[in-house]
Amino acid sequence: MADKRFGKNGWTPERISSLKGRTYLITGANSGTGFEASRILLSKGAKVVMLNRNPKKSADAISNLKRIISSHADISFIRIDLADLSSVRKGAAEVLETVPRIDALICNGAIAQVPKQKFTQDGFESQLGTNHFGHFLLQGLLYPRLKESKGRIVVVGSEGYKMGIRTIQFDDMNWDKNYHQNKTYCHSKLAQIMSAYELQNRLKKTDSEVKVYVCHPGSSATSLIKNSGNAMSRIMFSMMSKLPVVQSAEKGSYPELMCATEENLDESGYYGPTGMMDWVGPVGDCVIQPHALDRKVAARLWDVSQEATSFKWSL
Ligand SMILES: NC(=O)c1ccc[n+]([C@@H]2O[C@H](COP(=O)([O-])OP(=O)(O)OC[C@H]3O[C@@H](n4cnc5c(N)ncnc54)[C@H](OP(=O)(O)O)[C@@H]3O)[C@@H](O)[C@H]2O)c1
Repeated sequence: MADKRFGKNGWTPERISSLKGRTYLITGANSGTGFEASRILLSKGAKVVMLNRNPKKSADAISNLKRIISSHADISFIRIDLADLSSVRKGAAEVLETVPRIDALICNGAIAQVPKQKFTQDGFESQLGTNHFGHFLLQGLLYPRLKESKGRIVVVGSEGYKMGIRTIQFDDMNWDKNYHQNKTYCHSKLAQIMSAYELQNRLKKTDSEVKVYVCHPGSSATSLIKNSGNAMSRIMFSMMSKLPVVQSAEKGSYPELMCATEENLDESGYYGPTGMMDWVGPVGDCVIQPHALDRKVAARLWDVSQEATSFKWSL
């Protein structure tokens, strides 16, 4: 539903005034929606720290952003490979040493539609390991700085959470028996979303002013499928991209930008495009389906995630 506050065009970055003095961390920021979000935040005067896995691509992204915005744009890079928990620990330690304030941690990076079962460095199914466990640990490690900064955690989900098995497959988290490129991707995005609402619930019982928001980019023309999908998925997505059911990467970045910057946003919401099938169109409130808010499943997922990452939140 388009939000009345934002008018018929929905939320757009025009609502952001100056972000001077603000710092935003974005995972997976050297392409797609993460790159576009970085560009727009920089254009508003913010400092952006990209948390990317690939140093060469990051150097290229930084020089592109400086060329587009200004050679003085405050953009930097700390290496984090979400598919390797030791890299997440190392990168988070560097953040804590060098970044004194975090206004928002935008959990944007992901892989999708991985055709065959693969594993992260720590032995987890690659999409769950990268998209969920990597971010779960990162959020926990950076939480003290977010708390000091009264910052936000923004989780970039996917409408895929409505597809696949629509719950968490606790008896086979690695999908040894039934691996399926799309269902397993959808499982990882559902895990991210459920964990975000669980974190909100846990924070509400504390004095923390950290806010957690959940959004999705609809269907956006990025390199997501090109990077990790098989030939058939790539052909299908490239054909779809010519139809009005796919929007630009820039528009795909608006929901995460909105969640990172808009004041007085309801935390229990789920934000994204509200046009055709919620894949494109004005950004506002989308409906979150009840299976993503199942408290019992979320609490169990929280325990499983703490164990998998050997990280215990003090919440
Ligand atoms: N595009 C869509 O239609 C769509 C739909 C639903 C949800 N989403 C979500 O939107 C978000 C952004 O994706 P996108 O569409 O912009 O795709 P994208 O252009 O492929 O961007 C994904 C980013 O994640 C990074 N990444 C992948 N694995 C990583 C790892 N192990 N460690 C650190 N970074 C890693 C990639 O880095 P490299 O450059 O090193 O590959 C890339 O920069 C994702 O959360 C995705 O699930 C997208």
